[in-house]
Amino acid sequence: MDKYAVFGNPIKHSKSPWIHRQFAAQTDQDMEYEAILAPVDGFAIALRIFVADGGRGANVTLPFKEEAFQLVEVLTERARLAGAVNTIMVTESGQLLGDNTDGAGLVADLKRHQVTLAGSKVLLLGAGGAARGAIYPLFQAGVRELWVANRTAAKAEQLAMEFARHGNIIGCALDEVHEQDFDIIINSTSASVNNEAPAIDSCVFASSKCAYDMFYQTDATAFLRFAQQHNPEQQCIDGLGMLVGQAAEAFQLWRQATPQVESVLAALRAG
Ligand code: ATR
Repeated sequence: MDKYAVFGNPIKHSKSPWIHRQFAAQTDQDMEYEAILAPVDGFAIALRIFVADGGRGANVTLPFKEEAFQLVEVLTERARLAGAVNTIMVTESGQLLGDNTDGAGLVADLKRHQVTLAGSKVLLLGAGGAARGAIYPLFQAGVRELWVANRTAAKAEQLAMEFARHGNIIGCALDEVHEQDFDIIINSTSASVNNEAPAIDSCVFASSKCAYDMFYQTDATAFLRFAQQHNPEQQCIDGLGMLVGQAAEAFQLWRQATPQVESVLAALRAG
């Protein structure tokens, strides 16, 4: 039976094993998928043991995505641009291929909600790893203009410089976006983890059709509550669909089979 795993620390609460087992059952794949807790300084060894033992592929989560980026032998273009790897595949020749499916998971989830990306003007809040992974896939999906706003403006400006050849991108501080009209506002900051919303002027939501938080929890995040309050007409979407979407992309890469995201997502929502 083909072996897959997710590596992280902590890993106990990862939904990935459950999601991939559902995908495997749906598509009739003979595979197993486990969660592996790697010591913070022991990811490379844990991965090597797993592959030596016949592992065919892996997902990588916090805090190992950047280390995985360094470890793999071949990178997909989107992983190279993301600067992080969340999916590893052992190729036919035994090489480690590193991919990043997070941004594609975000785009797939936006499309699943019928949000129009082609020709849109998007505000991306945050300039950390999560934001970096989203930029190239958003441009690939046809985003016309992308504003990256961050608490530390220099980090957003740096990202804008790095991605300038991929599309129309502007980097700025959180308080520099209030005079703009956006179609979609995406929160990639880790503020939600502390039940906070990034400090942006509520008027940015006036014309927005969709507010998206990459984070998810059982009740609405502070960002989505803030967005909803200032424009109840727009769609408010949390990051659970992105989680299932990035898993589906990884599964497809490994198995060349397309899983059904909808039923898995519904089951996760039902708890
Ligand atoms: P991740 O990999 O999840 O993106 P990260 O690389 O540590 O995590 O980046 C966290 C992002 O959330 C950063 O953009 C950070 O802003 P700074 O660069 O100014 O630190 C942002 N962030 C975290 N807490 C925030 C808060 N309370 N308000 C606004 N932005 C916040």
